[in-house]
Amino acid sequence: MKTYRRRGTSTTVVHAGEDRTNEYGAITTPIVQASTFIFRNADEIRKLKAGAKDRYEYGRYGHPTQAAAEAKLAALEGAEDAVLFSSGMSAITTTLYAMLRTGDHVIITDDAYKRTLDFCKACLPRFGIEATVVRMGNYGAIRRAVRKNTRLFLSESPTNPYLNIMDLERLMAIFRGTRVTVISDSTFATPFNQRPLEYGVHLVIHSATKYLGGHNDLLAGVVLGKKKLTEPIREYLKITGGCIDPNSSYLLIRGLKTFELRMRRHNESAQAIAEWLERHPAVKRVYYPGLPSHPHHDVAKRQMRGYGGVVTFEIGGTTDDAVRVLSRLRLLSIGPSLGGVESLITHPATISYYRCTRPERLRLGIKDGLIRLAVGIENVEDLIADLDQALTVACVGGGR
Ligand SMILES: Cc1ncc(COP(=O)(O)O)c(C=O)c1O
Repeated sequence: MKTYRRRGTSTTVVHAGEDRTNEYGAITTPIVQASTFIFRNADEIRKLKAGAKDRYEYGRYGHPTQAAAEAKLAALEGAEDAVLFSSGMSAITTTLYAMLRTGDHVIITDDAYKRTLDFCKACLPRFGIEATVVRMGNYGAIRRAVRKNTRLFLSESPTNPYLNIMDLERLMAIFRGTRVTVISDSTFATPFNQRPLEYGVHLVIHSATKYLGGHNDLLAGVVLGKKKLTEPIREYLKITGGCIDPNSSYLLIRGLKTFELRMRRHNESAQAIAEWLERHPAVKRVYYPGLPSHPHHDVAKRQMRGYGGVVTFEIGGTTDDAVRVLSRLRLLSIGPSLGGVESLITHPATISYYRCTRPERLRLGIKDGLIRLAVGIENVEDLIADLDQALTVACVGGGR
């Protein structure tokens, strides 16, 4: 039997999922902007009822532009199937709703995305589903948290904002032989830098709003894995309705074509900026898994191809000092999110955690001078120059 070489990432993202036999001969996948798909005759209706996979019925149940994007994402992640959603949160909530029943138990790590934690702690208990929050990196606590009714384990890697890394080999050893489904939100890593399915993780979730879309112009989420797990989720999505629209599907396809080029740049620039920040007198500490000073650098080195585009650092002084630094920036924009071509910077204490009191926020590890930088694809010298001029105010107020 002839064996084929596995294609490279860019070849995959440019070509996978594209139907180049479409009736217009268009090289790009058409945006099929329709909410309903009509039947030409009774035979077509009969075919649909018989389970035909080659036709569409109603936009919420799936559409051609979505299918092309899903095929591309599945090829990229090395997954049997991909299901797209209107946002990362829709992917997470629909997956959990589809998999869990009253009486089930979930384990989640404590530095997961805040809204995912909110969902597990505040929404799931209303349906009689209990969630245990365990400390990220405490593998003993994860093992001890497993009960007879534990149905699902959910975590992220790298995490936000400290970029902690889950040791996937160690994690999967805990769940081997159990009936627990392990889900990894791999948004910060992307399929370029980390491949959780190759470690035996059952389902991977991404906020495709971030690196997969890559241009800060769409919202989407995706869940990937074996069909026996994704199909019930796809069926549930037809009820919950958090479906992706044709335009966002197209933007995602378009963004994915430069995915490898962008990821290489994000990785390189973030590493350079992290190393530069570590030498800067105004900076107390830098958190980046590509730095030997990061507590999980060794795991990251073993498990990841690159360390991603997010760098977190801490300056001295008060929250006002940190805000003053952000306000001086000319090239970098202040805003949440990450993974786009434009660099974004945020001050978690005043932007993401403004509803918390200071003691609550500090308990969650969100320090006054903590700054999260999502490095875009601009020239790294320009980003460093902008950071340098902004950080001069911090040299006066704080520093080491
Ligand atoms: C790790 C992670 N997962 C999920 C989400 C939610 O994604 P979305 O904003 O696309 O709903 C986010 C959003 O920031 C995130 O950072």
